[in-house]
Order: sequence, then C-alpha cells, then structure tokens
Amino acid sequence: MNTSLPIPDAEQLEHSGRLVQSLRDEVAAQGGWISFARYMELALYAPGLGYYSAGAKKFGAEGDFVTAPEISPLFARTLARQAAQVLAATGGDLLELGAGTGRLASQMLRELQKMGVLPQRYGILEVSAHLRSVQQETLSAALPPELLSRIEWLEALPDTFTGLVIGNEVLDALPVHVLAWREAGIFERGVAWEGGRFVWQERLLADSHLLKMARGLDMPPGYISEICPAATGLIASLAKILRQGALLFVDYGFPRREYYHSQRASGTLMCHYRQHVHDDPFFHPGLQDITAHVDFTAVAETGTAQGLQVLGYTTQAQFLINCGITDLLAEVSPTDMAAYLPLASQAQKLLSPAEMGELFKVIAFGKGLTMNAAGFTRGDKRHAL
Ligand SMILES: C[S@@+](CC[C@H](N)C(=O)[O-])C[C@H]1O[C@@H](n2cnc3c(N)ncnc32)[C@H](O)[C@@H]1O
Repeated sequence: MNTSLPIPDAEQLEHSGRLVQSLRDEVAAQGGWISFARYMELALYAPGLGYYSAGAKKFGAEGDFVTAPEISPLFARTLARQAAQVLAATGGDLLELGAGTGRLASQMLRELQKMGVLPQRYGILEVSAHLRSVQQETLSAALPPELLSRIEWLEALPDTFTGLVIGNEVLDALPVHVLAWREAGIFERGVAWEGGRFVWQERLLADSHLLKMARGLDMPPGYISEICPAATGLIASLAKILRQGALLFVDYGFPRREYYHSQRASGTLMCHYRQHVHDDPFFHPGLQDITAHVDFTAVAETGTAQGLQVLGYTTQAQFLINCGITDLLAEVSPTDMAAYLPLASQAQKLLSPAEMGELFKVIAFGKGLTMNAAGFTRGDKRHAL
C-alpha cells in the first residue's frame, strides 16, 4: 500500500470496502483470477460502486484530476471551430462520448450558437449513470431552453450517424489488458486475492485475439505493457455507424513505436487520487481513477481498416493553435488584467509542452468529406503513426 497518498475518510473506506467485496466475489466466481481488464472495468464502472459510477467529485481541483474542458472554456470554444467545419460540410449532428461534467457540451453549444452553426441534436453517450445525472444537472442550469432541447442522452450508439463524434479523455478510461513478455512466452497479468489483498498474478496468454495483438508487438522478455481492444473496438463500432462526417479523439498517448519503447518497459498504467499520480491500481478500488495511455497507431489502423480516412494527427497544442485559440485569447485585452491573466494562464496549461500541449494528441477520422480539417493544417504528424 502506498503510504504517501492522502488517507480516505471512514465513509470512503466503507464504500471502497463494498467494491473490494464485489471484486473478490468476481475473482472467486472466476476460479481465483480475473484479467486486469475485468478488474479495471469493475473498479471504474461497476454500477453504483465503480469510480465513475459512484458519487464522489472526480474532476477539478477538489477532485482527483483535471481535464481540458475543466481547465478552460478556451478548449471547448476552440474545438467548436473544428466542429463547425464538419457540421457545415455534413449538415449533421454532434455526438459526445463520455461527457464528464457536461462542461464541454455546454460551452461548445454556446459557441456554435454564436457562430450560427448549431446542430439539430447534441447526443451524449455516457456509461456512468451517476455522471449522466451530473451532466443533466449542469446542463439544465447552464443552458437556455433552445440549446438544452438539442441535447439527448443515448443508451447506446445509434444505428447510423452523420456529423461529428467527439471524445475527450475517453479512450484512456477504457479497460486495458496488461501483458508481460517472458522467456517462456507472453503472459497476461491478472488479479488474484492473496493474504488479504489484491495481487498481480500472471497466466499464459490464451485468448487468440489478444495473442494476435500481442505477437504483433514483439517485445523482449521482461517487458510489461498494455493493449486496449476496447479502444479499437469502440473505433470500429463508430466507423460502422458513420455515414458521413468525422470522429475526433483527444487523449494522452503516443504512436506505437514510442508507446512500446524500451524506456516504457513497465507500461503506462496510471492512477489518479486527489491530484496524486501513482501506479498502484489496488489502492482503495472505487476511490481512484485508473488509466493507460493510448496507442494512437492501433486507433489509426482500426479506423483505416474500417474504411475511414485519417484526417489528421497532431499534438493538442498544434491542434488548438490551428483552430485559432490565440485569436480567442486576443479577444480579451491584456490591459483588462482581471479577465486576461486567468485566461492566459489557462491557455498556457492547454498549450505548454510541459503541461498538456505535447503529451495530449488529437486524432480525427473522416468519411465522405472533401475538406482539409482546420485542426491539422499545420504540424500534421499522420506520417508518424
Ligand atoms: C476521464 S473521463 C473524461 C470526461 C470528459 N470527457 C472530460 O474531458 O472531462 C472519461 C469519461 O468517459 C466515460 N466513458 C467510459 N467508457 C465509455 C464508453 N464506452 N462510452 C461512453 N463513455 C464512456 C466515463 O464515464 C467518463 O465520463
């Protein structure tokens, strides 16, 4: 147990205890071992108990981590410029996956209204019932009826879709399988219960789909990392329903040759607990976020295999600059220090290579579009995928 992390209060411990029991039941029911992907799925999304499915505040300074839409309205307003281009080209709708607090939806709709390119519908697909109710609350309080009426919470992906699908920090929140390359073969790292706690336990990788993905990576013995069939599965499902338009994902990660690099020999799994970042996924399950970086090459290969075109791939900083974040900042006079200074500092967080600017990437796929996507006009790194 990591002792440098803040100590949860009694109520939080009780909550985590209930999730631990439910995870232990699952381990026992599966013969003493579950894959890490199953552990992560339950730790994050078990109804009423998982990190995203239960009530504690996650986003923002008093939560566990901060995402771009929570840092600054500049993020949504800039993204709206890319959205406007796709909406104008398709006459379609917007669909946001994993909408968090609903802030991105609220700010994008306001900006699109200002630009005169409102979609008929802004669909939200959110797996967490708790976050869905947070979104409903935030958006009803923030938006006038003519914007609120365009939002629709979906239970599943629609059968067909025209317009723009967006997901900010959704791919990193999908369950990953953890693999270990050993002299004796490729093993899957899973979770068992031993001596009163969860422990890692390895089994020879048997699943043929995972084995195919793992063999394609060809890593040396001793290497540990993740693969995320849930992310590629999601891209494939979206590709199948997209009639005309684009998919746009923002997340932290790398192209494959940087992801599976010798410097990352223990993988990219990360946990966030009250603004502390650490690597112990067994620390109070249900109270902390668990994530892994995104392999953007795997994402791109899946999209193209499903008939999509990669419209662009670049850093968050380059994408936001291409879409005009500096023009939005310039709308506020630097002499108006009370307004300008906070906005400039937010922009710095979104753009600086030392903060989110370089680690976060944007990838977009298109179908039936002839435009050059605004966000990738300069610094497109598609060739690196
Ligand atoms: C890290 S949070 C990001 C939230 C928000 N987009 C933001 O940037 O603040 C991940 C979000 O994805 C949601 N999510 C996870 N898996 C999903 C899936 N398969 N479909 C839709 N949403 C999902 C989570 O419930 C949560 O809202």
